Amino acid sequence: MEPIAHLVKVSLPNYLSELPIPNSIGGWFRLGVRDWLALIPPTALLAGLGYMSYQAFCPEAKKSIKARVNHKIKKDLGKVVDTIDVEDITEKAVFCRCWKSENWPYCDGAHGTHNKTTCDNVGPLVVTKKK
Ligand code: FES
Repeated sequence: MEPIAHLVKVSLPNYLSELPIPNSIGGWFRLGVRDWLALIPPTALLAGLGYMSYQAFCPEAKKSIKARVNHKIKKDLGKVVDTIDVEDITEKAVFCRCWKSENWPYCDGAHGTHNKTTCDNVGPLVVTKKK
């Protein structure tokens, strides 16, 4: 516990008190290159903490493109909804669940490439008609 206490009570306050933070707005314009270089690490730390907080707590950040599964199908729509009349299914229908098919909403086998490149295990929904 002593190293942490020393860090919080001695090292960190000493480090912060030595930062070249001016007392006025005009002082920022009089900072030299060494002063600006000294301000880079704490600024980067604060920016990183701010970004991580934004990612953790802001609902908009959770809508990032990484979370999307649909990258190409009917992107002009707010929601992709397809309706298939069961009477139109003659024997069986194979529906895509990986969002990679070029024949949406039907599976065209694109899940195979997706699974190979991502080590995923997605596959289609197969609907069969009772005889
Ligand atoms: S192409 Fe998407 S599940 Fe087969």
